[in-house]
Amino acid sequence: MSLYSSQDAKKQAAAEAAVTQLPKGGILGVGTGSTVNFLIDLLPQLQLEAAVASSKATEERLKKLGIEVVELNHVGSLDAYVDGADEIDRHLHMIKGGGAALTREKIVASVAREFVCIVDDSKWVTQLGREFPLPVEVIPMARSAVARKLVSLGGDPAYREGVVTDNGNVILDVYNLNILNPIELEQTINNIPGVVTNGIFALRPANIAIVATDHGIEVRHAE
Ligand code: 5RP
Repeated sequence: MSLYSSQDAKKQAAAEAAVTQLPKGGILGVGTGSTVNFLIDLLPQLQLEAAVASSKATEERLKKLGIEVVELNHVGSLDAYVDGADEIDRHLHMIKGGGAALTREKIVASVAREFVCIVDDSKWVTQLGREFPLPVEVIPMARSAVARKLVSLGGDPAYREGVVTDNGNVILDVYNLNILNPIELEQTINNIPGVVTNGIFALRPANIAIVATDHGIEVRHAE
């Protein structure tokens, strides 16, 4: 038996729990995706000075609620960044990029003192990348060259048809990678010429995960 009637109800619960933990006022970094969308709808409660958005979609949603959106170039640092994940493990390493916003998400997260990850428990995994393919943002002319390198790392890259990122690039979704050392693989893939960034968030993991489980909200820290 679950306290929640659906996965969306869990996402909403994680968002509600996060809003009680986030600083009031100030400038908040805001991620992208359906879980974060639940949070954005609650942000008027925090009376933010402004927000930094990790995607055009998030920017639009924030503006519709009357929340001022400022460019990252105009902000020195952020107290907090809040975002969802496609997968997260006990070290609070994550795979992100299901919504193709990984590059801007990683940039905004990099200037935040605290990364708060909000997920339902379907995202909690023992090893990253077994179920969810790893998104890699690639400069379009480098697509095939990068794909060949990813094959040499043991992956099966698939071109995400019809998707252009906010930065004008394409996404390769890489299946069957054995991600035993996420920090090392994040660096290795980022070093392939033509890769803008990859969806492993391990060099800068989350600081806390707010996880909605069948039994309620759990706040988890890295083991
Ligand atoms: C977008 C992301 C999202 O955080 C991730 O895809 C999770 O999305 P959702 O909350 O819709 O499950 O990385 O690029």
